This record gives sequence, structure tokens and C-alpha cells, in this order.
Amino acid sequence: METNETQAASMPRIGDKAPAFKAVTTQGDIDFPKQYEGSWVILSSHPADFTPVCTSEFMTFAKLAPDFEKLNTKLVGLSVDGLYSHIAWLRTIKEKIEYKGMKDIEVKFPLIEDITMDVAKKYGMIQPGESNTKAVRAVFVIDPKGIIRTIIYYPLSMGRNFDELIRVIQALQTADAFSIATPADWRPGDDVIVPPAGSCGVAKDRMEGKAAGVTCHDWFFCTKKISKEEVLSKIQAK
Ligand code: BEZ
Repeated sequence: METNETQAASMPRIGDKAPAFKAVTTQGDIDFPKQYEGSWVILSSHPADFTPVCTSEFMTFAKLAPDFEKLNTKLVGLSVDGLYSHIAWLRTIKEKIEYKGMKDIEVKFPLIEDITMDVAKKYGMIQPGESNTKAVRAVFVIDPKGIIRTIIYYPLSMGRNFDELIRVIQALQTADAFSIATPADWRPGDDVIVPPAGSCGVAKDRMEGKAAGVTCHDWFFCTKKISKEEVLSKIQAK
């Protein structure tokens, strides 16, 4: 029998290759993460179709899809409901739900059917302390090489913060593009941290003012400016 410990041991972690699977979705079959090579992906799970928090989240995801697209980021959803439930729910959202200024919202990204819970279990989305029969609200951010770069879990009762999801993608892409790290609450245009944690060998030069444009708050904590325009011109699709 799979215990909490053995399940936890098999949960994917940051830095792991995203577990592969093939599945049926509202947009046809997918071969994950293979067919997303070259794109960033947000793979997210939700507890159940036809529930209010999930509906508010799906409408928000769909509204922000063009913003994610600009960041070369594709969206993929999953719940342990079947395909016909998914289709009926998404149709209801489009035809009937008006919420916070959003209406006529069409979810064009794939929603995976996972009645067997095979995919949800592979990704540690079933967390028995929360529910044995529904996926928690998991977010896996996967990079263009298929590596998991961020994992966020929310409980059933809490809708996700989509500004934060955009910020996560921007921060990961900026860290990759400029070889920097991003401080607390960073947004494009804020100062970034140089060098990334663990490579402070060059900090002495910086403390002595030898590195142009770098401000050191102490030997281990140096920052520099990268303008919002420079960040966005590197990470956003033209
Ligand atoms: C909801 O999406 O509203 C929800 C789903 C499962 C449990 C609680 C709330």
C-alpha cells in the first residue's frame, strides 16, 4: 500500500524532469511534456469542474492566456473529472457565467481528463490530508527543456493569485536571461540581485566599488538595476 511517505517520496521536485504522460484533453490528445518542448508551461490542477473557486480561476486563466502567451507560456489544466464534464463546464462558463467584468470567456487551452488519477498521482496532486478524491490546486511551472522550475500548492478552499503566477514566469525567465536572482516581491524594473546565491566570490570587487552599476548592502548582498524595458524586451515575445 502507498503510504503518505512513499507518495511524498515519489512527488516531483524542483529541478526534476517533468513526469511524462499521454492524456485526453478538451483540445485533443497530448503527449506531455514532449509536445511543449521549446515553450514554458503552467500545468495546473483543480479539485472539480462546476465548483465556484475553480470557475473563478479558470475564467482568470483564460482571460490572462494572451499575457502568458506573450511570455512563451502555454497553459494546461487537469482535474479528475471526465471529458464530458470538462466540456459541459467550459461551455457553461462561456455561455452563462459573468464574474468580475469577465463574460463570454472561452477556455482555449487543454483541460486534461484524469478519471483514473494516474496523472494527478504522478504529480503529487492528490494530497490525502486535504482530499483522497480530488486534486489540490497545484501549479507546476515547466521550462522549455521540460524541467520543473517552480511548484506551488494551494488548498481546496483558496483560489490562486494570478499576478503571482505571471510574476513567477517573469522572474524565472529574467533569472535565466540575465544570470541574476530576484529579491522579495520583485517585479520587472525592480533591482535584481547579483550574483546569484552561492557564487559570491566576486563580491569583494563590488564592495570596493569596482563593478559598474552594482550596489552592495554587505559583502553577500549586492544589487543592480535592470530597467523594466530591458527585462521585458528579453522575455516577451515581440
Ligand atoms: C471550489 O472550487 O469552489 C471548491 C472545490 C472543492 C472544494 C472546495 C471548493
